Amino acid sequence: MRIVLLPGDGIGPEVTAAAARVLAELPLDLEQEERLFGGAAIHATGEPLPPETLAAARDADAVLMGAVGLPEFDGKPVRPEQGLIRLRGELDVYANLRPARGDGIDLLVVRELVGGLYYGARGVREDGTVFDTMEYRPDQVERIARRGFELARARRSHVTSVDKANVLDTSRMWREVVERVAGDYPEVELEHLLVDNCGLQLVIAPERFDVILTENTFGDILSDVAAGMTGGLGLAASASLGDGRPGIFEPVHGSAPDIAGRGVANPAAMLRSAALMLAHGLGAPDEAGRVEAAVDTALATAPTPDLGGAATTDEFVDAVLGELSP
Ligand code: NAI
Ligand code: MG
Repeated sequence: MRIVLLPGDGIGPEVTAAAARVLAELPLDLEQEERLFGGAAIHATGEPLPPETLAAARDADAVLMGAVGLPEFDGKPVRPEQGLIRLRGELDVYANLRPARGDGIDLLVVRELVGGLYYGARGVREDGTVFDTMEYRPDQVERIARRGFELARARRSHVTSVDKANVLDTSRMWREVVERVAGDYPEVELEHLLVDNCGLQLVIAPERFDVILTENTFGDILSDVAAGMTGGLGLAASASLGDGRPGIFEPVHGSAPDIAGRGVANPAAMLRSAALMLAHGLGAPDEAGRVEAAVDTALATAPTPDLGGAATTDEFVDAVLGELSP
């Protein structure tokens, strides 16, 4: 199996190196290949997603990504985040899975990733009006809805579909399609929730959720709220899956320029993303479980500063490796 590592910017390379160390210790035939991406790629080649990087990602069994973004590119015409948006579209990874666990909370945000506001028509009208457009085709909604119901069936069989159907036409179509798909999963319970209420419920009653199924922008925001309810961005992992193409596995957090270069980034989110890669991308669920358990232990024995501890990134990884090797 061959994985492509895209370290990216800021703490991206620090947490990617942590994952590479852990993956190298697993008894798997795993080839790791590193490629330029994001701001680092702009510096080296002028573009955030160089053709060599895209080609390597397409050919890989899975892509493990750090994070991209550097303050120096804010407002510039060529930005690191453009590479991320383009790579997701090129690999058509339409299903973004963001689990959040802790303190009676065990939920999974299933976010549509390659449609909606981040991919719709955009521009500037003659009068200076700037616009971004939320666009969805019914088949885009159907495939993410199916993914949500499939995942719910393997969990507690409850789907909360989140939209803004009282205002948006895209949401009314979303609700219709989800209702239709739900007919194929009679054993899964479906409820609809408006996005603003979902934000509130996540804060006051997060334990009520199993699978939260939602579109791109709502999912982006709600999954950060869910991450905040379960230990913060240092812990939150994600998997982005398509149909039969390599998935992209990455922490929810960004490049954290405020702590980059100090060796104190929490690598747990990245290591949990690597575990999702083992489970959902490489067919190695047992190794995934071992990594997850080792990370849980390290969180207790070697917490990093964001969790009130004093361990460095390397010390955290040492603790994980100590758990993994008998
Ligand atoms: P951020 O997630 O990078 O940081 C938010 C806060 O959380 C910061 O205080 C940071 O120090 C802390 N934090 C994040 N990850 C951490 C970790 N592993 N360990 C300890 N503390 C951690 O979000 P921010 O500051 O809004 O964005 C910074 C840059 O990252 C921007 O350029 C943004 O566009 C980019 N970004 C990239 C993403 C990606 O590559 N998928 C996702 C989100 C933001
Ligand atoms: Mg986000």
